[in-house]
Amino acid sequence: MTATYPVAPDHIREIAPYVPGKPVDDLAREMNLDPATIVKLASNENPRGPGRRVLEAITAAAQDLTRYPDGNGFALKAALAQRLAVDPSQLILGNGSNDILELATLAYLRPGDDAVFAAHAFAVYPLSTQARGANGIVVPARNYGHDLPAMLAAITPRTRIVFIANPNNPTGTWLPPADVEAFIAAVPCDVLVVLDEAYNEYLQPAERADSAAWTTKYPHLLVSRSFSKAYGLAALRVGYGVAAPAVADMLNRVRQPFNVNALAQAAAIAALTDTAYVEASCALNRAGRAQLGAGLDALKIPYLPSHGNFVLARVGDAARINRALLAEGVIVRPVGNYGLPEWLRVTVGLPEENARFLAALAIALRP
Ligand SMILES: Cc1ncc(COP(=O)(O)O)c(C=O)c1O
Repeated sequence: MTATYPVAPDHIREIAPYVPGKPVDDLAREMNLDPATIVKLASNENPRGPGRRVLEAITAAAQDLTRYPDGNGFALKAALAQRLAVDPSQLILGNGSNDILELATLAYLRPGDDAVFAAHAFAVYPLSTQARGANGIVVPARNYGHDLPAMLAAITPRTRIVFIANPNNPTGTWLPPADVEAFIAAVPCDVLVVLDEAYNEYLQPAERADSAAWTTKYPHLLVSRSFSKAYGLAALRVGYGVAAPAVADMLNRVRQPFNVNALAQAAAIAALTDTAYVEASCALNRAGRAQLGAGLDALKIPYLPSHGNFVLARVGDAARINRALLAEGVIVRPVGNYGLPEWLRVTVGLPEENARFLAALAIALRP
């Protein structure tokens, strides 16, 4: 019988949609709570609010909303090229770094190809792979992190992309730069290594790889970075990729002509100059991670040491604990869809927000 509606291909109908953090207004409606009393620690956002320079840049850019943005992002690319010591031809701007991950699969995956990624790695890798009709090859984790030798062994002639998240979300695990570089060097040069560094700025300087410089050495490397986290611009959606010019060119061919809006470009340029904001965000994050760690220790809840702006805690019956936290007006992220059904991921918030979470968790844990 002919279908009475358009039927998408199997690989599209089988996509399990991305589950975002629960919006504050949804919980307020459902629980009849005042939104102002709700604490949301569910989407790894920067809790500080935007910096003054960013607000001024957005206000100035908002005077010209009737024009399309610069589709090539000349000024933002120039600022990034200078900061990263790369050529502008090595850069791709994205509507969030999520866009860069999507563009990589759009440019390099055909139906039936393989993409390799780790168990418990960022949800967009399997999603975007499946959207291309390609096969996701999931490599079991080691200590909840990437098992690089096993990932290398999983590469076959069908593999076109390998995804590495460093640090990884939701586990917060981190790989030493020397191990990552050795991995990239060992991957066949016709396989694109996507090194997702959305949380890069939260690392201590000694933990950080000079991955932008690696792109001149390894033409099969694409590094993605985000303005959503330490730079505090999640709502504006802006991120970037760094790669050899030939790879950057391919991604630029498949992106939308105006994928990064004018306010986002202006804000990102201003944010890059505001190193004090990023440093203060990282300091707040370190203190908040320690606060959450101490609180979880006191509650005897195990958690993974995190290199990001979030902590993954093993609470046991995570569905029940999550419901109890919601009843207390605290939104965190269940991670059953990451194969971690006993765990909850909590984003590092302001000190008082972290304290609210810990107090609500103590209540939620009562039998
Ligand atoms: C590991 C990782 N990569 C990429 C992203 C995408 O971030 P954005 O699109 O906001 O840059 C996220 C968002 O949480 C993430 O956790």
